[in-house]
Amino acid sequence: MTDGVPHPLADGFVGVFDSGVGGVSVLQHLVRELPGEDFRYFGDSAHAPYGGKSADEVYRLSRTIADRMLADGAKALVIACNTATSAAAAQLREAYPQVPVVGVEPALKPAVLAGGSKKVLVMATEVTLALDKFHQLEERWAQGAQVVPVACGGLVECVERGDLDDPSVIEVLERLVGRYRGEVDRVVLGCTHYPFVRTQIAQVLGDVTFFDGGAGTARQLRRLLEQDGLLRDGDQGVVSFSSSIDTPAELALYRRFFEMPC
Ligand code: DGL
Repeated sequence: MTDGVPHPLADGFVGVFDSGVGGVSVLQHLVRELPGEDFRYFGDSAHAPYGGKSADEVYRLSRTIADRMLADGAKALVIACNTATSAAAAQLREAYPQVPVVGVEPALKPAVLAGGSKKVLVMATEVTLALDKFHQLEERWAQGAQVVPVACGGLVECVERGDLDDPSVIEVLERLVGRYRGEVDRVVLGCTHYPFVRTQIAQVLGDVTFFDGGAGTARQLRRLLEQDGLLRDGDQGVVSFSSSIDTPAELALYRRFFEMPC
């Protein structure tokens, strides 16, 4: 912003996307941090999960969504998906230098800095754990802590189905992380779907502290909007939802998750 003159794009919306309903956990932080902004959320539920696809495929899907959001007038993009951030954030920033592009990454740094006597479990998708971004994070922040990465195939599907009380959620979690019960005291939720099953994860792992990237992503968006003079600090903004499964039931699921504490 220069000389108090509002940026011409400041009234635009912030586009937020994920492979499905998971990014709604990030959206909750965004709205809390920036209540005056308009947010348009898109969940690519027709193509979820992204976590078992190739990095190229995740990039292609992310690029299609981002292109459409920008064509619709987005003033900033939030990739509310660890997997898509790892596979596509760098390329999207290069493709759209004119708008802030904010991603989300596994909150390994705060988990390690919190200290503890046991291991740090990182739950994320196969793609997130395989790509360079996670290896760089680990190299930079593990600092002697015992980090245990676990690819949680099958968990995103449980969350996408929407019935979080179904016994199959606990069965899947037992299979994925049950063997670490009592061995870990910190858990990084490295996929934006997982905060919605925090209670179920605690049921399986016992007394643990959770870390996720939602709040940090919201603070980073605020910083970038401020820096570019794009911040809109007016009345309550509008939050809207759309999905590649364009049915009333799917959109109702997104709204229900938006109201759910996570
Ligand atoms: N919510 C995603 C993430 O943060 C996507 C997971 C998926 O679709 O597999 O990684």
